[in-house]
Amino acid sequence: MLDLSGKVALVTGAGSIGEGWGNGKATAVLMARQGAKVFGLDINPAALADTTAIMNQEGHTAWAARTCNMTVSEDVKAAVDDCLVRFGRIDILVNNVGGSAPGDPVSMTEEEWQGQMDLNLKTAFLGCKHVLPVMERQFAVDGKGGAIVNLASIGCMSFQVGGRVNAAYAASKAGVIAFGRSTAIAYVKKGIRVNTVVPGTMHTPLVEHRLVRQMGLNDAQDLVAKRNASVPMGHMGDAWDVANAVVFLASDEARYITATQLVVDGGMTAARPGA
Ligand SMILES: NC(=O)c1ccc[n+]([C@@H]2O[C@H](COP(=O)([O-])OP(=O)(O)OC[C@H]3O[C@@H](n4cnc5c(N)ncnc54)[C@H](O)[C@@H]3O)[C@@H](O)[C@H]2O)c1
Repeated sequence: MLDLSGKVALVTGAGSIGEGWGNGKATAVLMARQGAKVFGLDINPAALADTTAIMNQEGHTAWAARTCNMTVSEDVKAAVDDCLVRFGRIDILVNNVGGSAPGDPVSMTEEEWQGQMDLNLKTAFLGCKHVLPVMERQFAVDGKGGAIVNLASIGCMSFQVGGRVNAAYAASKAGVIAFGRSTAIAYVKKGIRVNTVVPGTMHTPLVEHRLVRQMGLNDAQDLVAKRNASVPMGHMGDAWDVANAVVFLASDEARYITATQLVVDGGMTAARPGA
């Protein structure tokens, strides 16, 4: 089940914002555990070095990494070319780079708005732009195209009255879902599947490293408790819950699944507050 032997996976944002497991880092390691050759990209060399140390510790020799700014087309193209030189093909692309910045249309600057569009949407666009032709060529040669998994967020699906507003994040992640569905249909006859994983409230290093500061709090434990209580299951998920969903959608077991979303949120989007 979910055997990725013989497949080459390109994972963006394969580091993590802080110590512990972010979604991209867990996905890269899980794909290696499932037998894939993994090429990890990240803008932060120190974050990549952490992932490399884990890969080495676990004995995954078919791992390579490279710094890359996923918002810069030439950088992405160079990284894709590098992956082809090292591993010869790309079967899986995981567009994991992304993150939220708070604000509504009045409080956000134009630069903050554009920054969110670039970080969350343009990164997925550029990943697809440079990898789709590779997968299409593979399909023409050996009938094996590829699978692309993009990362959205339930932050584009449900909103709390009086809660934190992330208008640009919501818009850009809704864009990721629509972009994925449209691209999936454009490539459906070319052996390429495109799907989106939609994580809910997860306990990743983001909580302690960014949210506590962004929300002007100094008590991470209190924030963790509130986030746990907000989930119908009673606790946040973690990066492995996201990674398991990504691996499934990337695997051959998901061969008939394209142009859809897999929500990983402990029931959050289905629940009514107080119900
Ligand atoms: N953590 C959550 O609770 C959560 C919830 C919903 C959705 N998500 C989504 O999951 C994805 C991963 O989130 P996370 O919190 O696990 O990530 P993270 O912030 O821990 O790690 C993201 C990695 O991406 C890298 N990165 C940032 N900008 C980059 C760029 N321009 N080019 C290349 N690399 C870049 C960072 O250096 C970092 O190592 C994001 O798309 C995020 O929106 C996360």
